Amino acid sequence: MLSGHCDLDENNCLLDFSSTFETIFNRSSKPQIRGGFSIDNMALLTIYHALDPILRKKAKPVKNIDGELADLTQDMIETMYDAPGVGLAANQIGLPASFFVIDLGIEKEKRDPRVIINPTMVLSGEMEDGEEGCLSIPDVFAHVKRYSLVELKGYDLNQNEIRIEADGFLSRAIQHEMEHLNGSLFWDNLGVAKRDILKRKFKKKLRDK
Ligand code: NI
Repeated sequence: MLSGHCDLDENNCLLDFSSTFETIFNRSSKPQIRGGFSIDNMALLTIYHALDPILRKKAKPVKNIDGELADLTQDMIETMYDAPGVGLAANQIGLPASFFVIDLGIEKEKRDPRVIINPTMVLSGEMEDGEEGCLSIPDVFAHVKRYSLVELKGYDLNQNEIRIEADGFLSRAIQHEMEHLNGSLFWDNLGVAKRDILKRKFKKKLRDK
């Protein structure tokens, strides 16, 4: 479990992921607890917004799947549901590493949170239009064309290979999270004019906060 404040003693800091992720992160890109814990004592993490450079970093492969990662991803799942959202990629909480959490139960309205590590995907089917939002761009929604089918491969926290085939909204959600790991955002799929309108709207919202 992530806990406490880490400003005083960096060496003993539970939020220091340098052991897990080696040298790819610096101090400015660590997960930050945004104050308070949820009822079941899991930490809610800061979600970085779309204009933060961390969202533009390509994720690097995770080298060690360990207890630290298990704790962190539990907090990510908690943060995702609290937002509320259906997926959250590591760079959205400040770590440009190749993993995300997603609720595979989104279409059945039954929670089925999963951790997908070092994922790859193969896309197929038709292009489908659908509305999307993003926890890093709150209150901004747009229609995006995505492939209807996706085959996702990766690893779980037990280092077992996993393979997920999805269509519909889940396929869309997986492609959205994979895009995050590539340093892209859903509005990058839109035309320049449309994207600029959404960006202006979002910047105004940040200013007005
Ligand atoms: Ni997103």
